[in-house]
Amino acid sequence: PSRLADAVPAALAVSRASAARAPGIVKPLPDELFTVRGTNAETKFESLAGTGQLTPASHFFVRNHTTTPRLDAAAWKLTVWGDGLTGGAREFTLADLKRLPSTTRTAFVECAGNGRTLFATQQGQAVSGTPWTFGAIGTARWRGVRLADVLRRAGLSHRAVDVMPRGLDDDYVTADGTNLGRVRRPLPLAKALDDVLLAYEMNGEPLPPDHGHPVRVLVPSWVGIASVKWVGDIEVSTKPLYSPWNTDFYRLFGPGHPPEGSTPLTRQTLKSVYELPWNATLRAGERHRLTGRSWSGGGAVTRVDISTDHGTTWHRARLHDVPRHGSWVRWSTDWRPRTPGPATLLARATDTTGRVQPGTTAHNTQGYLFDAVVRHPVTVE
Ligand code: MTE
Repeated sequence: PSRLADAVPAALAVSRASAARAPGIVKPLPDELFTVRGTNAETKFESLAGTGQLTPASHFFVRNHTTTPRLDAAAWKLTVWGDGLTGGAREFTLADLKRLPSTTRTAFVECAGNGRTLFATQQGQAVSGTPWTFGAIGTARWRGVRLADVLRRAGLSHRAVDVMPRGLDDDYVTADGTNLGRVRRPLPLAKALDDVLLAYEMNGEPLPPDHGHPVRVLVPSWVGIASVKWVGDIEVSTKPLYSPWNTDFYRLFGPGHPPEGSTPLTRQTLKSVYELPWNATLRAGERHRLTGRSWSGGGAVTRVDISTDHGTTWHRARLHDVPRHGSWVRWSTDWRPRTPGPATLLARATDTTGRVQPGTTAHNTQGYLFDAVVRHPVTVE
């Protein structure tokens, strides 16, 4: 039997051994690109090195409450309904949407809980939720129609205040058996009319099944839950709308916050991440080109500072992208470690609003919006 095993070409053996599975995700999840976490797949940040500013669909993280539905684009319809319309409900096919003027926009989608494990590992605080490191983010070029154009064609009333897109994936049932219905999250009309897209293309291709085929909502700069995938209907309301996704989740809870939580989360926060495995090994006495990415929901990242001596001294990283709101910048820095032993790499971003990453993030029980400077451990040998 060992001889048979030896006869298997090495590449084949590796790919068989390393195809991880997440129930309900359609695309392949090779070990070198993803860490599977329940129904979700996290991008290994180091696998983004060399991928360019846009994250290929093959590398893009997947956050699924249940499973990816297989929808037929030709049969798909979007229903826009509610008392915030002047007439009755309106339906749009994909062909209807494609006849409207299209808009293309580069934007990241990032889960509100991206970086969550750092509350525990860096700050010693307990939090609940999917234990992401930093790979619950990707940046793509999205093409679609402005939600504003669709709402106006549906007959938007001047009394409308909120809209609530809902996905066509299965009902979400929590671990304790409560059925919360289909994923849906209210969006204030002001944001809906500003820069939100109903996207049907990702990086020049039709949306892949896992990322919302045939149409998803794309809410630039906001927490990922706002960007509802596989959208099937949108309620338009003259009264504020609620769902578990803006009441029980996606608010800040815990000491320092009201019992019902903060206001619902909107914009993403600020982060910097090295494209390097955790505990990577680097040779002493050699020059290493370290690369990474920084982004902010508040504005473009204009500056990234690097420290290899626990924050005593800082120097600027080279930026490789023009800073743009809603996107990330790639950066690099050269480092020649002298002494073997453990070391820590820091990177700290500043955005156009003047915001700088802090040393610690204020705790919240669900571990949202981690923005502290990450202490990335490496070993020099
Ligand atoms: N939309 C639906 N219908 N179902 C979902 O499970 N997950 C949300 C959002 N939209 C979700 C959804 C969350 S929490 C995030 S972070 C993003 O989709 C993830 O988008 P991606 O899987 O394309 O990376």
